Amino acid sequence: MATESGAKADPIDEQKLTKLVETSLVDLGATVHASLAIIGDDLGLYAALDEAGPLTSAELAEQTDTAERYVREWLRAQAAGGYVTYDPETDRYGLSPEQAHILANKESPVFMPGAFQLVASAAKIEPELREAFRTGEGIGWHEHDEDVFHGTERFFGPSYGANLVSWIEALNGIDETLKAGGRVADVGCGHGAPTIRIAEAYPDSTVIGIDYHESSIAVARERAETAGVGDRVDFEVATAREYRGIDYDLVTMFNCFHDMGDPVGVSTHVRETLADDGAWMIVEPYAKDRVEDNLTPFGRLAYSISTVACTPNSLSQEVGYGLGAQAGEEQTREVATAGGFTCFRRAAETPTSLVFEARP
Ligand SMILES: C[S@@+](CC[C@H](N)C(=O)[O-])C[C@H]1O[C@@H](n2cnc3c(N)ncnc32)[C@H](O)[C@@H]1O
Repeated sequence: MATESGAKADPIDEQKLTKLVETSLVDLGATVHASLAIIGDDLGLYAALDEAGPLTSAELAEQTDTAERYVREWLRAQAAGGYVTYDPETDRYGLSPEQAHILANKESPVFMPGAFQLVASAAKIEPELREAFRTGEGIGWHEHDEDVFHGTERFFGPSYGANLVSWIEALNGIDETLKAGGRVADVGCGHGAPTIRIAEAYPDSTVIGIDYHESSIAVARERAETAGVGDRVDFEVATAREYRGIDYDLVTMFNCFHDMGDPVGVSTHVRETLADDGAWMIVEPYAKDRVEDNLTPFGRLAYSISTVACTPNSLSQEVGYGLGAQAGEEQTREVATAGGFTCFRRAAETPTSLVFEARP
């Protein structure tokens, strides 16, 4: 076949084409599924299946005070996606222990409804993002739908609960310092999910959570009161280049260093605010150094969120460095050490997180 320009186009490989169409079908189903997962979480459908299942659609509708016809269709979509079980003999739907773990257990480190809330609401920025692709302008974190902030808190919070102490134990001597009563600054704290968990894990330490986003800090304050740590946790509306205080034993940044417009300026400020024997812990999404090694399902998710939220946020701030959420260890080392840190190492990792320790 010749193209309009006269050049010969490559022939279509039918097998490759079929595979791509299949991939698209999975993605299309997943795209619609995101809002259905949010509804299932919001209306307590997953919770009821977990507590009382297996249930028919009528029983689930009755338990949750919802309309049976909607619930029946929702259940079938969930079953087709492998998120609920279906027994044709009894016409009942249920959750396996693994399905309950990711859909109904809000404290599970892999609780997914929060993640669906995050990605579905982040996609609402599409009109502004399309324009930003043209102009190169940034979009601040604060410009997103509120559900982005709640989804971030609900998705990341439980995983910090499960991993935080082991990450801090992996830093040289910091666990001992915090047990004895140290000072921590959690920068880019959002709704305070990591901040509050640090305070809970180290009752003799004081923690300050810092974020430039005023309404996130207001929510974080409420969360700290509810968690009963309000007396040891303070919050400040400030950027990562300007927050107050000196001589911190630990400065933490959870999934936000790559969001900063001026990561080198941030590194300089962290160095100024850290005690000489203090540590800077940077938790970043898992990534390898080379693009080709990040072309995985997780890499796809991280690059996509990075395109929608992280990179636009960085571009919206002074310098507009645009590090991106899949920078990997070498690039992160380069920018994180530029402000005067002499030691930088990977202290811990999980399949989805890299934990770095930087020391003066
Ligand atoms: C992905 S969220 C992570 C929130 C929190 N660390 C967590 O893990 O739950 C990124 C956070 O970084 C904050 N942020 C972005 N740029 C910032 C800056 N220059 N200074 C302070 N905070 C910033 C945003 O407001 C947002 O709360």
